[in-house]
Formats: sequence, C-alpha cells, structure tokens
Amino acid sequence: MSEDVSRGTGATIEDYFLEDRRFPPPAGFKDQAVVSDPSIYSRADEDWVGFWAEQADDLDWFKKWDEVLSWELPYARWFDGGQLNVSYNCLDRHVLAGNGERVAYYFEGEPGDSRSITYRELLEEVEKFANVLKGLGVKKGDRVAVYMPMIPELAVTMLSCARIGAVHSVVFGGFSPDALRGRILDAEARVLVTADGGWRRGKAVPLKEGADAALAGTPSVDHVVVARRVGGSTPMTPGRDHWWDELMDGSDPVAGGAPDEHCEPEVMEAEDLLYLLYTSGTTAKPKGIMHTTGGYLTQVAYTHKVVFDLHPESDVFWCAADIGWVTGHSYIVYGPLANGATGVIYEGTPDTPGKDRWWSIVEKYRVTILYAAPTAIRTFMKWGVEYPEAHDLSSLRVLGSVGEPINPEAWIWYQEKIGRARCPVVDTWWQTETGAIMISPLPGITATKPGSATFPIPGTGVEVVDDQGEPVTRGGGYLTLTRPWPAMLRGIYGDPERYKETYWSRFEGRYFAGDGAKIDDDGYLWLLGRIDDVMNVSGHRVSTTEVESALVDHPSVAEAAVVGAKDETTGQAIVAFVTVRSGEPTDDATGESLRAHVASLIGPIARPKTVVFTDELPKTRSGKIMRRLLRDVAEGRALGDTTTLADPGVVDEIRRLAEVSPGEE
Ligand code: WT7
Repeated sequence: MSEDVSRGTGATIEDYFLEDRRFPPPAGFKDQAVVSDPSIYSRADEDWVGFWAEQADDLDWFKKWDEVLSWELPYARWFDGGQLNVSYNCLDRHVLAGNGERVAYYFEGEPGDSRSITYRELLEEVEKFANVLKGLGVKKGDRVAVYMPMIPELAVTMLSCARIGAVHSVVFGGFSPDALRGRILDAEARVLVTADGGWRRGKAVPLKEGADAALAGTPSVDHVVVARRVGGSTPMTPGRDHWWDELMDGSDPVAGGAPDEHCEPEVMEAEDLLYLLYTSGTTAKPKGIMHTTGGYLTQVAYTHKVVFDLHPESDVFWCAADIGWVTGHSYIVYGPLANGATGVIYEGTPDTPGKDRWWSIVEKYRVTILYAAPTAIRTFMKWGVEYPEAHDLSSLRVLGSVGEPINPEAWIWYQEKIGRARCPVVDTWWQTETGAIMISPLPGITATKPGSATFPIPGTGVEVVDDQGEPVTRGGGYLTLTRPWPAMLRGIYGDPERYKETYWSRFEGRYFAGDGAKIDDDGYLWLLGRIDDVMNVSGHRVSTTEVESALVDHPSVAEAAVVGAKDETTGQAIVAFVTVRSGEPTDDATGESLRAHVASLIGPIARPKTVVFTDELPKTRSGKIMRRLLRDVAEGRALGDTTTLADPGVVDEIRRLAEVSPGEE
C-alpha cells in the first residue's frame, strides 16, 4: 500500500474521485467509459503482477507465457516463455476478426494530398515490404535504421521490421546527418530506410541528401531504401540505393523481382528486442533505449485504451506527435494499431497552410481524441481563439497532454476552448524509457485538476522521495518508480553499466526518472520537470552536455555552458554562454554561426535560442561550471531570440558570480 503516492494518509485512491472537484468527467461520460469503476485501482494494487497478466491476455499469443514476471533488479523479464508477433497483433488479428475495411490511418499530407488506408491494405503493404527487407538480406535480430518524414511508409517500415523480427531504430527526420550517423554506428544497422524528402512549411526537406551525408563512414549499411515523397532529382548510389516503389513492384534493377505478397509473421519471444530509440541523457552520447515485445505491447495497448477511453469502432484518435519520438512509436503506431483504432498521420506543421491546420484536420476527420504537447497548446493560445473557433470541433471527446508540465492556464484553455468544456483532459507523464504512460487520470473516473497529472495508472508503483530516498506523502521530492512495469526499458543498447548507473543507482531499489515532483494537499501529483542536466524544449529532451560539445566543436569557441531557461511557449529555451578563443569575434555573425553549427551537428531542435558571449564562466572550486547560477541569469532577463552581444549587464553579472562563486559546490 505504501507504494502509492496517494497513500500514506490511510485514504484509498478512490477517496480522491469526488464528484465535487473542479473538473469531474462530464455528465454521462462515466456510464459509457471503458473504465468506470474506481475499484480498478485497488484491484490492480492487490495483485499487480496478475493485473498485468490480465492485460496481456488481451493480445493474441502464439504461445502463452510460463511466468508473468521475473525480477532481478534492475532487470525484468515479462511474460517469459510467451510467443507472439507485434505486427500480427496490430494487423492480422483485426482483419481476421472482420475489421479489415476499418481505416487504420487517415494520412494528411502538407500539400493537401490525403489518403486513407484500411487495416487490410496496411497488412498487404507490410507483408510485401517485410519481404522486400528479407530480400535485402535483413534477418531476425538485425537492426534497420529509419529516417523518414511523417508518411504512412514510416509505419509500414516499423511494422515490417516487427513482422520479420528485425529491430528498428527510428531517427527523427529533424535530426542532423551527424546525429543519424552516430545512431547507425551505435546500432550497426544493415539497412537504412528513408525518403527523398518531406514537406515542411511549403518546402521539400531533402532527407536523402542528409542520409547520404550520414552514410559516409557507416560500414554496416549495405542497402538504402528510398520512398518517393517530394519528387525531383535525388542522388542515388547504384547497387546501394533502391526506390521503395521499384522494390515493391519488382522493377528494381538489383533486387530479384517482385516480393511475395504473403509473409508469415516471425514467432517472437516475449523478451525479443522490438526496437531501439535514442534519447538524450546527461552526457553528450545519446542512449539507445531498448524495448522488447510482449510487455511493451501489453502496456501501450492497455494505456491507449484506458487513458483515452478508446472505443475503437467509433473513435478517431489523433496523436499529433512525430513518429520519430517515443510518443509516436507508442501512440501513433503500436498502441492504436494493437487496439484496432483509426488514427491520423499528418505531415508538416500547425501553421501551414494556415494557423487553423489542426482544427481543419479535426473537423475533416471528425477526430474524437486529440493528444498533443503543451507547447502546441500554448502556441495556439498565443495565436488566438479565432482559429479553433472557425471550425466544428464537436467530435472531440477526450484531450490528452504529454511531454512537459502543462501550466494550469494552458490546461484550462485547452479544456474550455478546444474541449468546449465537454472533454476530460488527461495529462500523461511518461518517458522514452517507460515506453508507455505511467501517470495519468482515467477519464471515466478521475476528477482532474488543471496542471496535475493526478495519479499513477493502475498497476504501476510511483513514489516521491526526499534526498535520502524516504517517501514523502505531501510536498516535493524526486519521482521514482517502485515496481517493474511491462513496457519498461530493458537496458541501454551496448551499455549495461550506464543503465544501472543512470536509473538505478541514485536511490536504492528504485528507478529514478530524473524528474522532480510534488504531492499537493489533496494527494494529487504534480510533475516539476527535470532535475538533471537535461532540458525539455517543446516536449523534447535535449542534453546540455550534447549542446556544449557541439559548441566547443566550433573553431571559435574556447568554452561553453548551456542552460535551459524558462520559456513561455516551449517550456524551456536553450541559452548558451560562450567564451571565444582569443582574437575571435563576438559579433552577431559569430553567434549566428554557432547556432547554425549546433543545428547542423544535432538538429534544429537543439539550436540555442540565445548565445551570450562572456569572457568568464562561474565555476566551482573544482572547476565545475555552475549552471544553476547561469540559469538564474538567463531567467532573470528577457534575452532576445539570437545573440546578446556582450550585453554589459549580463557580462557584469556573470563576472560578479565568477568572483563570488568559488567555494560553492
Ligand atoms: C521527460 C521524458 C513521454 C513522451 C514524450 C517525452 C517530461 C513527459 C510529462 C508530463 C510533465 C513530462 C519529463 C520526462 N514529461 N510527460 N505529462 N508532465 N513532464 O518523452 O523525450 O523521453 O521525455 O519529459 O521530464 O522525464 P521523453
């Protein structure tokens, strides 16, 4: 019992679901909800291992497991002995159940093209493309790197890998060639699947050129598959590069004829690797987070159902993230497809062709569930309510938030202006490492509070602890997970020590998430953001060290310190304090070149918003840069969008800090 944040006062979690709270589920909602009985919490708590087994039963297994959980901290094995295939669960079983004509995806391209793809069609594509991959020599256990825009072929590629037991490593299309290269090398991928480009704000982003740059120096890659999206001329290396469509129709000059239309799903062990996804930590090197088959699919399917109150036969679920992040892996691809839901894949940005893009998509497809990041919501607030108001949003039933803390003001705006006060808002906390949602209200039963992620979902163990690792029942502390969970990471690819060190060493016997959290007087959980050297920019993790390494890689830079400063729209903004080598200029052009350098090494997401030139950085006696002080400096003034040119105020302040600081650790 003590494992749960809501406990410790003798109250049960159900005591918190009082109808008189500020935002109870709308009238009538409860009766139709997938979960309407609050006792699900206590049932799950009494036998949480059995509870997860019950959820796993909702999947189709070729062979049932022998053991639900074996747990040798920090290594869990879930559903050992069980055999299944993820693509079979996401596709075949729905077609076999007579739902082949249900739409799996509505695709909405930026130039205005659109397509709907049924489950039967998706299965056909996946079977063929799985055979294409086999034809290129991809075998069970091999890694396939994926670098694509938001087009249906991205989901097809992932599912095709899953079908033949290959491990995909999707690299967000916004990452730089260098970032792609590092991930290909780390995973030793054999094949890269990419596209000629993708549409973004009216321009074709030349992804294949980026891929080519990355592939210089990646000896493991034998073949590159290129989906056609933007047209025009694309450099192709004969023998290595193949057009997707030519492989699929048999006209590729190198591959041997058209692929077979049928591909038996590979029988996979529950603990076989499903995918790698790289995420930023406190060092410059991203971590290859490992997710396996049975437990991962169990928890993404379960959470997708209960957190969003999913009715697959009638809902249209739109997770407006990019598949290149874990949000898209779990809630555009695997969770929704495992549940036989209809989803939306959209290419581009919320402002093109107009600032009502999202709302026209909601109206066009009668979207019922929308899952988005607070950054997007705050941006819409800034743009003004006239854009959503111009559209019929009456189809919406449930709204989700993910990626960063949502401030109460944005939460309420979302509820009132988008949800028109009819929709429960679920703020969902989780991470690349957790694989699936861990903390969230259940819309059938939880009375919500603007800004709070409320309670752990049934089956999970969450505690907030103090510096000594002692649980706190009220007030602030560190967010820890006390039990293994089915979708948990199984490690960091190729680096078991880093796995133990990063997640399992700060507090004995607990997984430490890296987040601060607090429990309010009503027992509600509030997430307070990262407490380590990881920034959260628009819901995406960026490591301060990674950006610093990119900066010192620039020939003008002697030293750099990077902090995440509070930003009204993006949550945090990247501010870089830079000392140049002697004689190097500290002008706008240099600042611009530094920002561009970071973007080219990591990706535009890591481009510092502001570069501050200073001749000193505050350091501890042992020489550690005092980022906390720099963050105070950055947050204490309105820094501009580009370079703060030797702003005398800032420089003075830093100089003062540099003088005062020695001694402070
Ligand atoms: C970090 C994980 C989960 C998919 C997107 C991000 C922050 C995530 C919330 C939330 C407050 C949140 C945490 C977490 N975060 N969701 N609802 N409220 N903070 O995945 O890139 O692995 O980042 O995002 O700081 O540790 P990620």
